[in-house]
Amino acid sequence: MQYKLTRRDHNSTPSKERHQRQKQRRMSKVKILVVGGTGYLGQHLLQAYVHANANNGTPFAFDLAFTHHSSPPPQPLLDAIPFSLPFQVDLKTGFGFEAISNTFGQPDVVVNCAAISVPRACEIDPATAHAINVPSSLVKWLQSFEKRSTLLIHLSTDQVYEGEKSFYKEEDIAVPVNVYGKTKVAAEQFISENYPNFAILRSSIIYGPQTVSPVPKSLPIQWIDGALAKGEKVEFFHDEFRCPIYVKDLVTIILTLTSQWISGTGLLVPKLMYWLDVCYAVKNFLMMLIFSDTLFKLAKFNNKIFAEILSIL
Ligand SMILES: NC(=O)c1ccc[n+]([C@@H]2O[C@H](COP(=O)([O-])OP(=O)(O)OC[C@H]3O[C@@H](n4cnc5c(N)ncnc54)[C@H](OP(=O)(O)O)[C@@H]3O)[C@@H](O)[C@H]2O)c1
Repeated sequence: MQYKLTRRDHNSTPSKERHQRQKQRRMSKVKILVVGGTGYLGQHLLQAYVHANANNGTPFAFDLAFTHHSSPPPQPLLDAIPFSLPFQVDLKTGFGFEAISNTFGQPDVVVNCAAISVPRACEIDPATAHAINVPSSLVKWLQSFEKRSTLLIHLSTDQVYEGEKSFYKEEDIAVPVNVYGKTKVAAEQFISENYPNFAILRSSIIYGPQTVSPVPKSLPIQWIDGALAKGEKVEFFHDEFRCPIYVKDLVTIILTLTSQWISGTGLLVPKLMYWLDVCYAVKNFLMMLIFSDTLFKLAKFNNKIFAEILSIL
């Protein structure tokens, strides 16, 4: 059933029985929530999850939900991701999370792609940028579940660094020089201090094709292409080393993290296996980063179970 039909069912007072069946079906599947699903990365990611579902690209069947904020989810996106449930959420106030709990339940994995992601906009309104980019409402919502079993994958930026040298490493100190970077560092700190299961991905500029429902913000390749098509001269910065990442590489990393986290949570797996699975997931992910040339920045994959497994072994 496509989402559009599901929504109509809701509006026309669905039978209790059908509602129950839907709930049971959802409960049996892995639940993925993409916060900021209408943005550039969010749309690519949602389509990749749907594709993985349809083609058995992963050993799991996903139930997919996503959030939108400023306007209703665009129809081309809804058409591209049938079966997905949209929820309006405001990270600033926490509005909308309760509805997700009631309808969708606790997600197994949350990917937070929502942000004020344009540095200029952050400079104009630092308070709003801070309130949205530090996802305290999201973390508090995750804390409200009895079991802290959700993995939070959070998008950060290479703009956490000062920019005085090139090719920063994860262990370099984060010294942000703009409001955007400062909000991202604050977000990293907030998450690491308040939630046990998280991966923070410090991405550089994300490039790739336009989304199924075009995003309003300027995209790097499309901007260059447009300027060249008009025969315009393109001016580039010449005093920065950035390591852009192809959006589908970033999506692959997030899907890999998802699969590896989920594979460690099987209820029939003994507790020790669970710990080990998580460690393998982390190890494999780090190996993938080391051997990949995407120059992607992994900040942390921190889970307190590391300390536990070390003590067990
Ligand atoms: N794009 C890049 O080059 C790049 C580089 C490094 C890091 N990142 C990070 O990667 C993540 C994804 O970036 P992106 O380019 O995909 O961002 P984007 O296109 O700007 O999307 C932002 C998303 O945030 C949502 N949002 C805005 N305000 C919100 C609020 N108050 N409550 C809830 N949701 C809200 C938007 O929803 P509506 O559209 O419905 O308002 C949209 O879905 C961000 O964390 C960004 O900082 C991006």
